[in-house]
Amino acid sequence: MKIKKLILFFSLSVFFGVLGCKKDSIQNENNVLLNNKNVKMESFLDSLMQVMTLDEKIGQMVLFSTDWEKTGPSINNSYKKLVEEGKVGNIFNAYTSKFTRELQKTAIENTRLGIPLLFGYDVIHGHRTIFPISLGESASWDLEAIENGARIAAIEAAAEGIHWTFAPMVDIARDPRWGRVSEGAGEDVYLGSEIAKARVRGFQGDDLSATNTILACAKHYAAYGAAQGGRDYNTVDISERELRTTYLPPFKATVNEGVATFMTSFNELNGVPVTGNKYLLTDILKTEWGFKGFVVTDYTSINEMVAHGIVKDDKEAAELAVNAGVDMDMQGAAFMDYLKELIAEGKVSEKKVDESVRSILALKYQLGLFDDPYKYCDEEREKNSLMTTENLEAARDMARKSSVLLKNNKEILPISKDKKIALIGPLADNKWDIIGSWSAAGDRYEKPVTVLEGFKTKISNSSNLMFAKGCEINSDDTKGFNEAIAIAKKADVIVMVMGESQDMSGESASRTNLDLPGNQKDLLKEIKKTGKPIVLVLMNGRPLTLEWENEHIDAILETWFPGTMGGIAIADLIFGDYNPSGKLTMSFPRNVGQIPIYYNVKNTGRPIDPKNPYEKYKSNYLDVLNSPLYPFGYGLSYTTFEYSDLSIDKNKFTFNEDITVSVIIKNTGKYKGEEVAQLYVQDLVGSVTRPLKELKRFEKILLNPGESKEVSFTINSKDLAFYTRDMSFKAEPGEFKIYVGTNSQNVLETQFSLK
Ligand code: GLC
Repeated sequence: MKIKKLILFFSLSVFFGVLGCKKDSIQNENNVLLNNKNVKMESFLDSLMQVMTLDEKIGQMVLFSTDWEKTGPSINNSYKKLVEEGKVGNIFNAYTSKFTRELQKTAIENTRLGIPLLFGYDVIHGHRTIFPISLGESASWDLEAIENGARIAAIEAAAEGIHWTFAPMVDIARDPRWGRVSEGAGEDVYLGSEIAKARVRGFQGDDLSATNTILACAKHYAAYGAAQGGRDYNTVDISERELRTTYLPPFKATVNEGVATFMTSFNELNGVPVTGNKYLLTDILKTEWGFKGFVVTDYTSINEMVAHGIVKDDKEAAELAVNAGVDMDMQGAAFMDYLKELIAEGKVSEKKVDESVRSILALKYQLGLFDDPYKYCDEEREKNSLMTTENLEAARDMARKSSVLLKNNKEILPISKDKKIALIGPLADNKWDIIGSWSAAGDRYEKPVTVLEGFKTKISNSSNLMFAKGCEINSDDTKGFNEAIAIAKKADVIVMVMGESQDMSGESASRTNLDLPGNQKDLLKEIKKTGKPIVLVLMNGRPLTLEWENEHIDAILETWFPGTMGGIAIADLIFGDYNPSGKLTMSFPRNVGQIPIYYNVKNTGRPIDPKNPYEKYKSNYLDVLNSPLYPFGYGLSYTTFEYSDLSIDKNKFTFNEDITVSVIIKNTGKYKGEEVAQLYVQDLVGSVTRPLKELKRFEKILLNPGESKEVSFTINSKDLAFYTRDMSFKAEPGEFKIYVGTNSQNVLETQFSLK
């Protein structure tokens, strides 16, 4: 009898045996059924692991990329042969029902036990229907829409054979020189944690055995965003308090939300590379937080510990990684090549290997892959699930919601559709870059809607729309300038679409100069000379330094990389069919010298007097203000909002009481619009210094012109907890300020004491 049937028979006999003694309890406690489901899985895994050889177990701890995509320094083309030999139990960078079925068949039919492969892929902000980059999505502050975007990505990815996404990226980032800020949710811990949870919910849904849910992966654990100098993969050396206050909370939030997997980061943390860091991977993640999924490394990050200088060779690296708590080796082959030897030498226990293997098999089981390894390879479902009208509409809506209006002098936006428009810039008619980096299986050739195409759907008289590229994204070539200047002179208003190329942010894309690349600013200056009103539409994966633009350009709209439907969404915004509502989740510096720059800073012992910001002997610069050009939480609208009547239900609270704060918000302009009201707290005196502000709540509301709404927030002492002088996590009694407003600078304030 085939080994698989033996396993099945053995486990069913165990299962029914268990059921027999418990069946009377199933009827009265549903959760016992869940336990029996776990008992069923546990007995299945027991039976399976009892018959697995050590080689087969090690194979489950190995993940290899196909040669379909290169997402790291090296590719190993022998993945098919290794699958056939049972040496690779997991594959990434493979999709379509056809290809995954072919690879799955190899594992099921050619290996002794036929353990199904797990297919992973970087489905970060959409799979075929590409949503705005994650930093853009975060600027929507719309958790429901963010969750829905991840849900759609999961449905499309699962329809193409994918079981597991390497997302959400939850790295807090305060240094825009680091290109990977584009993949996260910005600088704030509270917002970042809420978004992390929304993305896990979206990807995993509430039933992993469904055919449209996939495993999520919290990455890159941990503190990858604190790389010195914003230089990717660089050293991270931060205090335990900074680690636990700023970088760990979003990861902990994903564990609380039931995330299935974690991915280690490339960086070292305080001298020990994360991939070999037992304190992070076992003591905190698995023991303190009780994480039950599995930990995969990032791309060859085990082998890279040799370069880090913490081990002498790949064999030592494998030993350090597995004993630290790594369960699966991405692309490095270190586990494949050395684990068996290390066990024979007693340097790694087989018990440790069994724990890792079990955590991996358990998730394959929960996906239902042992019942039907081909359940995600359904060509019919694939045909009906990709880039549906509904999915594209959701991407368009998110692209609108993600955009942030940074400036709108003399209200030149929205532009009426009868104006003569000159559309200029290297990103105005560009399908390749508009979907940004990490765009999975997103098409870059035909499907994306460019800004030019979007504008054409709005402007009936085609002679009113002129287009010239004007310049390249990153070049000093001026040959296109004259054509651009010529159409600008004929126009009533000029819309310039500029920014970065998609590969100027994302992985291995750190920059020290955050100005518009190439000679884009030169072209802007030439067009400015025409004296015509100019709207600058930005596409970029990180905050840029825009002092000149802020000074000289009438309107600026930040659209990030807005995805497949970006061009039509931008047209919706520019012509007023949608009123911008996005708010920045990362501060925009005035210049690179200010970095790291973020809103929840400490006061220092020599804080500036805002009325005299360059005063000597204060914590400031000689040549630039301390404040960012655009602060965290900032974003304008075509209408205006007024905050008034901030009230608090009482001024003294005990530790077990709720605190309710209310404010009236009025739409004082002439457009219907959405506003993100933000609530910040300041702990005035602590056993350690405390930030001037910390975001603790937010709410996005829609108001018609002239309409007012009362918005209430409730917090309690749990929201005031922090790592105190002795590193215990708790709130302390004392005086607090509450700030409520439209961004982290423009706020009303009140206060209370906690007794
Ligand atoms: C890359 C990235 C990681 C990605 C992985 C697989 O190096 O760091 O975010 O998920 O490799 O492509």
